Amino acid sequence: MSTFWSLWISIITIITTVGVCWVLLSNRKVVVKEKPKDGEAPKTGHVYDGIEEYDNPLPGWWFNMFVGTVVFTIIYLVLYPGMGNFPGVLGWTSDGQWQEQEKKAEVRFEAVYATFDGLSIEELSVNPEAFKIGRRLFGNNCAVCHGSDGRGSYGFPNLTDDDWLYGGTPEAIEASITHGRSGMMPGWAAAIGEEGVNQVTEYLFKLGDSEHDAKLAEGGEKVFASFCVACHGVGGEGNQALGAPNLTDDIWLYGRSPELIKTTIRSGRQGLMPAQSEQLRESKIRLLTAYVYSLAHQ
Ligand code: HEC
Ligand code: HEC
Repeated sequence: MSTFWSLWISIITIITTVGVCWVLLSNRKVVVKEKPKDGEAPKTGHVYDGIEEYDNPLPGWWFNMFVGTVVFTIIYLVLYPGMGNFPGVLGWTSDGQWQEQEKKAEVRFEAVYATFDGLSIEELSVNPEAFKIGRRLFGNNCAVCHGSDGRGSYGFPNLTDDDWLYGGTPEAIEASITHGRSGMMPGWAAAIGEEGVNQVTEYLFKLGDSEHDAKLAEGGEKVFASFCVACHGVGGEGNQALGAPNLTDDIWLYGRSPELIKTTIRSGRQGLMPAQSEQLRESKIRLLTAYVYSLAHQ
């Protein structure tokens, strides 16, 4: 926070606190006015619907409650952050509290994770305890993108089939999760033009044994050989070292309609799998790897 806003908040807080004290003390009346012998206690003269107000002081407990809140405010503002940039003498922060709770939880779960230490990913993938924890970790960390069932959606790969962008071995899955992945499919509109896009799209349908225009596909084969084989392979079978998908199967990360495929070829795609090594410790990543591995090997 800048010094200005820090002062702004501090000054408003101090003025309010002093103001509250002033209102409280200036209105304080300790002595009950003598009740005249012959009649009623004195009144303030305020009348509401025929009901009159006695001129009595606040009850003591009521007044003390107000004093209590002011004292509480002052003690709180000394101990905890509340006055602009002043951190409070206890040095408490919400982040610090969270870190501490995290640490306690880590220690508690460390014992649970330790029981999985000697097991391989394949062994973990058939261990019901590990599966349960893996599923929970997946729900918390991965489901937003890959879906709660791991089947993915547009732009987010399905993790339950045996079609892998980067490989389905325990090592490849673990690397995908730990370091993340970023797909680099360049756009080709400038290099091959709209005609080239149409041709190569038909050629992809030919590779996939789908209905296609034979004449356009013929031109597409040449485009493919010049611009696409480097990553997608001579037969379009893909390359897991580059995350270049197999273009001959009927699994499409970005949709199977001709229009979507053409959009991909024109403008390119850059799918991003965020690295998890910052947020998740190795023991958790191992359980996630086993969980994903088990999804694909059910
Ligand atoms: C912000 C969205 C996002 C989150 C969160 C996310 N992923 Fe991904 N993940 C992706 C995308 C996008 C790809 C594909 C990257 C590409 O297109 O090159 C991917 C790819 C993968 C792959 C490689 C798939 C293959 O076919 O080779 C694995 C394995 C994977 N993610 C597992 C996980 C796990 C486990 C988690 C949770 C810890 C997770 N992901 C969290 C978006 C995400
Ligand atoms: C530099 C390597 C590279 C080259 C060259 C390349 N691609 Fe790609 N392509 C990729 C990668 C990587 C992806 C996956 C992108 C992602 O994960 O977001 C991809 C994705 C695709 C997809 C989407 C597949 C799906 O499942 O939705 C199509 C279609 C495609 N490429 C066609 C082509 C065509 C046609 C050419 C040639 C004109 C070409 N690519 C050239 C790397 C390449």
